[in-house]
Amino acid sequence: MKLLVIGSGGREHALVWKLAQSPHVTQMWCAPGNAGIAEERLAQNGALVECVAVSAEDLPKLLAFAQQQRPDFTVVGPDNPLAAGVVDLFQANGFKIWGPNKQAAQFEGSKAFSQDFMERHGIPTAQSGTFTDPVAAKRFAASLGGRCAVKADGLALGKGVLLTTTVPEAEQAVDEIMVSKAFGTAGQRIVIQELLEGMEISLHALCDGQVAKLFPTSQDHKRALDGDLGLNTGGMGTYSPAPFLTAAELQTVGDAILQPWLRGCVTDGIDFRGLLYPGVMLTKNGPKVLEFNARFGDPETQVYLTRLENDLVELLLASTEGRLANMELKWSPLASVCVVMASGGYPGNYPKGKPITGLAAANALPNTKVFHAGTAPKDGQVVTNGGRVLGVTALGKDLRTAQTAAYAAVEKIHFEGAQFRRDIAAKAL
Ligand code: AMP
Ligand code: GLY
Repeated sequence: MKLLVIGSGGREHALVWKLAQSPHVTQMWCAPGNAGIAEERLAQNGALVECVAVSAEDLPKLLAFAQQQRPDFTVVGPDNPLAAGVVDLFQANGFKIWGPNKQAAQFEGSKAFSQDFMERHGIPTAQSGTFTDPVAAKRFAASLGGRCAVKADGLALGKGVLLTTTVPEAEQAVDEIMVSKAFGTAGQRIVIQELLEGMEISLHALCDGQVAKLFPTSQDHKRALDGDLGLNTGGMGTYSPAPFLTAAELQTVGDAILQPWLRGCVTDGIDFRGLLYPGVMLTKNGPKVLEFNARFGDPETQVYLTRLENDLVELLLASTEGRLANMELKWSPLASVCVVMASGGYPGNYPKGKPITGLAAANALPNTKVFHAGTAPKDGQVVTNGGRVLGVTALGKDLRTAQTAAYAAVEKIHFEGAQFRRDIAAKAL
């Protein structure tokens, strides 16, 4: 089988690495990929994965590539091409592709859509309001005492959320998004939620339009600095499982979200075939959904796929073809920890092109895999090429062992200005 994977981050490296292990795959391309993806080989025949210089957001060029090379199956990593309708486009041209269609991708593409859906279908979420008028938005924020999450409706690279604790702060956040347009057109409409307190976890469920198969728990670390200080980032590290829910509690929380969600999809005529990733706050009044994503998390994927024992090609095909009911997800009992190494300055401005050393030594450590995110090959070396550069991932018999192993690998890797958190998984220990 010939596979095309769309994307270039750490999530996509993890997807490529796992898909390449499937005996079904005889050829694989990644558009555009990164330096680590270009070094992956297929288990079936030892062939290298080929990176092709087509942006994940250039839908016409992606289609032209597919028409030329005729992949049997395409797997989409990031949210932007999904929201732009890459799945609909490929399907209309006769290609089999994994991911939600444009209608279903609205769960991530529009926070107002998701909030309205959750309220209509009884999914536990924060008290909220949706606004196109700043005056009405401020009135609502004041009614919450200024303790708010003020969110741009549309996609904003994971940055369109401002958390406030006073009325003046909340009013300023409304102005920033709606009047100064800090996130452009994504902020024409905003959602304001009450500020929730508790432990935040990531849930993932693979869906086929009828059935949703829940993954184990994981937890991301969104702030740039140790102790959850500093700016919000795309995610500085993850671990799985997260010990805040027992298996039985996870099932209960999953059901409380996924059962009404699936019923709602049927009622509203939404055919969701892909990965649903609810961000959930475990509050003292029970779990509440903060947002939905319509794709694998990054860096959640790195810890999930190092634990997944199934053939991922078979799972994603079943998701696309509506055959998940009879599939059982199998997970390693080992724990997984992923530490993100980022460029100095991230999530603000950062330099590119810094040579990276020690990758081979880190990868040679037992139970360790260095996933690349923002990297590029240059003159026979690997250099930095983005904010999040690497996801250094290790398995261990428990979280502490996995954490020790991941940081031992981090110590082997060097590039100028490298920054990483030293407390990934510490909340669990
Ligand atoms: P989102 O992109 O909606 O997940 O928001 C980004 C981050 O903001 C989340 O991961 C949470 O840490 C935080 N956040 C979002 N909504 C809320 C809320 N209602 N209460 C508290 N924190 C929130
Ligand atoms: N882990 C954060 C995200 O994928 O949005």
